[in-house]
Amino acid sequence: MEDIEKRLEVIVEFMTPGATLSGDTYDSENNYLYPAYTVYTQDIINTLKTKGIKKIYYTPAENNDATLLTQQAKDIWESLFKAIRNNARPDMNQTKDFVLSLHTYVKQNKDRFLYLMKIKDYDDYTFTHSVNVGILAMAMASKHGLEEKLVHEIGLGAFLHDVGKLMIPKEILNKKEKLTGDEFEIIKKHPEYGYEYVAKHDHIPPNALDIVLYHHENYNGKGYPQGFQDEEIPIGARITSICDVYDALITPRPYKRAYSSREAILAIMKETRVKFNPVLVSRFVRDMTPILQKEPLLPVGTLVLLTTGEVAQVEEPHSTGDLRPIVKILTNDRQQKIQRPFIVDLTMDTTRSVKKILPR
Ligand SMILES: [Fe+2]
Repeated sequence: MEDIEKRLEVIVEFMTPGATLSGDTYDSENNYLYPAYTVYTQDIINTLKTKGIKKIYYTPAENNDATLLTQQAKDIWESLFKAIRNNARPDMNQTKDFVLSLHTYVKQNKDRFLYLMKIKDYDDYTFTHSVNVGILAMAMASKHGLEEKLVHEIGLGAFLHDVGKLMIPKEILNKKEKLTGDEFEIIKKHPEYGYEYVAKHDHIPPNALDIVLYHHENYNGKGYPQGFQDEEIPIGARITSICDVYDALITPRPYKRAYSSREAILAIMKETRVKFNPVLVSRFVRDMTPILQKEPLLPVGTLVLLTTGEVAQVEEPHSTGDLRPIVKILTNDRQQKIQRPFIVDLTMDTTRSVKKILPR
């Protein structure tokens, strides 16, 4: 704790679960508690209270990487928007340099929580979303074992994926009410608008252009603009579409509340084989959950419906992001309570797997 002057205190009693702080935290005796950008879940808050810690202290990051990236991202979106309005040539070198810094940031934060930007007002959405999808797609692509150059190109495409939205009227983009058919058709044009714009103005690698054009294609062939299926969709676009949906779900919008990270991951799992490739979804769950949230996806006590029709309760989660916990089977396959519940380790018993999480 170097800069005592700028230190802020937080009263534990008033902490809201889900809050993050931009600096490492300490107790009143200067004992280190948690790293910057930890998500303060109810469990962590309870732990602090149990330890008798009433206040925690941190020095907010002012010029750390994340705030710097926010400012750069904002400048880039503003200059892209200006260029589009004036039909001028955008400075793509600035964008490419920015994605390089994002890439470095992702590499440095490998095993920590990814810091995703939060929007301050709705006009910020397109650029905060672009940065977040860039960060997520690069993290996912590198966990997927793709080579560094491709990871970087995927980051560039993911950052620019919605650039075509700058050409869609704001009234339609931010509309609270349900979109009319015509309005939806206009929104559906953004991948093509974005592609045409980026492709004609500067040299952008094909892998990045593919993402701008194909990030709304679906596994089942019912996406747009081409209606491509599964592997016809370039890998970068398939990765970006998962990250795009994830970030859209965890962000509040004029017409919807924000999902928790856990709810968003579960919603993505539901779209397996509809929107998303099953292998990529399971990789997302396995690789990204540990860096997106500390809570296991299936905490102890969660009731689940198994593929066999049996209802079970999670006894022990294996690891964060793992969907094969140890469970106690409570019912038979017709969901009737059984006399002697029994324990099954789903990593060993592959005839059973989790189909659905049941409300408590
Ligand atoms: Fe989009």
